[in-house]
Amino acid sequence: MRYGIGMSRDISASPDFDRAVDALRRARRITVLSGAGASAESGIPTFRDALTGLWSTFDAEQLATPDAFLRDPDLVWGWYEWRRGQVARVQPNAGHFAVAQLGAIVPAVTVVTQNVDDLHERAGSTGVLHLHGSIAAPRCFDCARPWPLPADLPDEPEGGRRLPPPRYTHCGGMVRPGVVWFGEALPRGAWQRAEHAISGSDLVLVIGTSGIVYPAAELPERALAAGTPVIEFNIDESALSPYVTRSVRTSAAVGLPALLDALGE
Ligand code: OAD
Repeated sequence: MRYGIGMSRDISASPDFDRAVDALRRARRITVLSGAGASAESGIPTFRDALTGLWSTFDAEQLATPDAFLRDPDLVWGWYEWRRGQVARVQPNAGHFAVAQLGAIVPAVTVVTQNVDDLHERAGSTGVLHLHGSIAAPRCFDCARPWPLPADLPDEPEGGRRLPPPRYTHCGGMVRPGVVWFGEALPRGAWQRAEHAISGSDLVLVIGTSGIVYPAAELPERALAAGTPVIEFNIDESALSPYVTRSVRTSAAVGLPALLDALGE
């Protein structure tokens, strides 16, 4: 797997890693912005990695827009049910646990994620801001009321199969996944709290995101514009790499625990 590249290197020998340790030692208020790369080593595919990314295998236009859902609800619901089952069956990785442990070292840590899984929470982070919603919080397409999930986990084949979405009893509307689709607004409360966290932070850690989806990518850009250091942990160059203060070329599950270890030394 591609994240093996980061694993095979001794990142503690890298000057960017040393600077990240120094920055973390001084930080009082951190915002962590995570993307799909943070959950990759738990076994959840990213979106844009060349061979394994979801959007290299599946067509986002057919799956991740409100129009796609209205055009073919069974296709979209079935695909998201497959992913919901996948997310529920995997475990947080060492990177998620390291992020949760940051709270014991730094006075204020806000975790902002683009991920629709709950792996940060399952690793112990609290108050996580989900900019792109949650795969386990479906709601009515028409009246937006939450729809209680059945206790049984979906057990769908790879890629899902056509499944008609349930109908909401109050209004008869179709139940939709609780994620933010292309062209939709972000949940206002989560976005405002994320903006607030960024403007009050003295360090931003960006973990495993390509940095091309807006407005999420605006958060580190705003921090940089305000003179706040931004340190990226990513196995590859991202759209943010040319601008961030430091890029540590490592996988999340290797680099973040190493960072904590170095702090404890
Ligand atoms: P992407 O798939 O666009 O990017 C994943 C990033 O993670 C890439 O930069 C990889 O190099 C990096 N990466 C992969 N494995 C890693 C690892 N083990 N450790 C560290 N980095 C790793 O995912 P996002 O940036 O999260 O939107 O995508 C943003 C949004 O686009 C998603 O939230 C999703 C998607 O369409 C919605 O679901 C609304």
